[in-house]
Amino acid sequence: MAEHVRITDVSPRDGLQNEPGVIPTAEKVRLIELLCATGVDEVEVTSFVSAKWVPQLGDAAEVFKGLRERGMLKVAPLFSALVPNEKGMEQAEEVAKSPSLLDKVSVFTAASETFSKKNTNATIAETMERFKPVIERAKNASTGPMRVRGYISCVIACPFEGPIAPGRVADVAASLVHLGVDEIDLGDTIGAGTPESIRAVLEAVRRTIGSAWWTPDKLTLHLHDTFGRAAECVEAALEAGVRSFDGSVAGLGGCPYASTPGKRAPGNIATETLVATIERAEYTTGVNRDRLAEAAAFAREIVTKSRAAAGGGA
Ligand code: HMG
Ligand code: MG
Repeated sequence: MAEHVRITDVSPRDGLQNEPGVIPTAEKVRLIELLCATGVDEVEVTSFVSAKWVPQLGDAAEVFKGLRERGMLKVAPLFSALVPNEKGMEQAEEVAKSPSLLDKVSVFTAASETFSKKNTNATIAETMERFKPVIERAKNASTGPMRVRGYISCVIACPFEGPIAPGRVADVAASLVHLGVDEIDLGDTIGAGTPESIRAVLEAVRRTIGSAWWTPDKLTLHLHDTFGRAAECVEAALEAGVRSFDGSVAGLGGCPYASTPGKRAPGNIATETLVATIERAEYTTGVNRDRLAEAAAFAREIVTKSRAAAGGGA
């Protein structure tokens, strides 16, 4: 029987966070509902970050309220959300009081000091300090322990510093492991990866944190697709034993703090491309491609509408 590869769709978070126009909460909830129907293993719902930093996701609590009202907790795959600090964790804990609504929080740091400062106003070391109480609270949440994912951005290159040495990524991964995260997610934030560079960073991380992390629930690859090479990177990662990937339906996405003058941050690998690539390599995902196409069409529709309303065209 073909081996299962885990898929997380991050479109409601990474896909929408850089959209300039207002996307109504009800449309985000509908997108998540459509994603739940696809059979993906996890949906990254939103971020509990400062609305001053990421205005698009300022309705995080309302999105979860909408999901609860629509009874999504009964049918949902795993739901997760980004949490940068203790203040974000307080909001996540509030949501987690509804059973099965929020199972995982994701902290995020980087392998580039410049990106870390621009994205979170903190050095890499300072982000680790911020994560300590988050992880502590997640493990001891009154409603039961929550899983913690630790994202590392710029694992191949930084939009400000250029190429990043694999050893730097491995060091940050080791720090996250030391803090007690349950899983590591390696982010190629600007889609600079090639099969060679992906293999190199995976090898460095594996040497440092060990093969025990090479399981679908402990190690994930998060690719952006700037140069159309993300699918090749998925193939290389599958060969290197990675069994969990993030994608964003319709290829929406990009971190606002990875944009440089005249260059908007690149979108994530489309979940459609991701699923097709994985299944071509003879693994299974359990994702229904027709349902995925419906979710992609809806995602395109809501961003096209909001971009037009924001005056930016489609
Ligand atoms: P800061 O300005 O240093 O924070 O930002 P602060 O502690 O000084 O607080 C400033 C204000 O923010 C205060 O409000 C706080 O209450 C508020 P004021 O008193 O001015 O009214 N605040 C918050 N509000 C809501 N939720 C919170 C929160 N924390 C403080 N959690 C901070 C530090 C981390 C908050 C900020 O830098 C931030 O929100 N950054 C988030 C940036 C972001 O979301 N980036 C995109 C996600 S990462 C990504 O896309 C990469 C990834 O996809 C992987 C990859 O592709 O590489 C994951
Ligand atoms: Mg990303």
